[in-house]
Amino acid sequence: MTASERPRRPKVIVTRRLPESVETRLAELFDVELNLDDTPFDAARLADAVARADVLVPTLTDEIDGALLDKAGAGLRLVANFGNGTDHIDLQAARRRGIIVTNTPGVLTEDTADMTMGLILSVPRRLAEGVRLILDGGWQGWSPCHMLGHRITGKRLGIIGMGRIGQAVAARARAFGLAVHYHNRRRLPEAVERGLEATWWPTLDAMVSRVDIISIHCPHTPDTHHLINAERLRLMQRHVYLINTARGEVVDEAALIDALQDQRIAGAGLDVFEHEPAVDSRLLAMPNVVLLPHLGSATFEGRLAMGEKVIANIRVWSDGHRPPDQVLEGWA
Ligand code: DGY
Repeated sequence: MTASERPRRPKVIVTRRLPESVETRLAELFDVELNLDDTPFDAARLADAVARADVLVPTLTDEIDGALLDKAGAGLRLVANFGNGTDHIDLQAARRRGIIVTNTPGVLTEDTADMTMGLILSVPRRLAEGVRLILDGGWQGWSPCHMLGHRITGKRLGIIGMGRIGQAVAARARAFGLAVHYHNRRRLPEAVERGLEATWWPTLDAMVSRVDIISIHCPHTPDTHHLINAERLRLMQRHVYLINTARGEVVDEAALIDALQDQRIAGAGLDVFEHEPAVDSRLLAMPNVVLLPHLGSATFEGRLAMGEKVIANIRVWSDGHRPPDQVLEGWA
């Protein structure tokens, strides 16, 4: 299909409920099928969707792999993901079939960085434990040595992945008096590094053994799968807190649980899990672990902006142009 042959009113199938105003606009612009009861698509429903759609709008809860794309009809030319991460989509398989993939970068940076700071504060200062104590009716009143946590100011934060979100976390961390360290494949330009007063570590192993709090902000790719594994956990100091608002699969969750059980690290703040939505019951029992149900970007404002990006990507594509947020990985 050439650009000029793209349908002006493409058949768009959306796999999950989106904010109402986004759904309404989609319905105005396209021949849209919405998922009003928000039941996640099973394999059969996804296969039916790719067979009939010109544009699929999936989310991170849909596995868009090569086997599924084999079932795509000739019309499917765009997968306009509602979300930033694309690790649930086989980008190579899409590219081989000439299917463009887009995402929604940039609009969930600040919200995710805020939530990361929430966890960076919550775990050392025992916020969730305190809430639980009050809810359980167990609080006996103030006393000097009750529920002491650890101070944030003056500690070293090691950021893994210094893209948009990593840098937004770094800026916030500076305001809290944390010293910023980072590991990234590419070093930041000197001016950016200076602005964040950030120290670059060319090797991850060297950084994780020297910092007090570690926060993960890299995407999940074959290269970053289990980046935090048993060996790296062993390099960390015993007082380290590990924060993950990126993707659960970047951490070997079983190895993390072992390290927490053996008190080889001090605690963890997790917004994402290796087998979402399953959360290992051993984590539930740990007082030094704060768990959130993948809320990093969950704001009204963020979801609207994500929807607007999806719409813009479909419109520009159906007008015959390259969509602004095409994921170029795998494309020449
Ligand atoms: C994304 O967009 O990838 C986020 O994880 C959703 O919160």
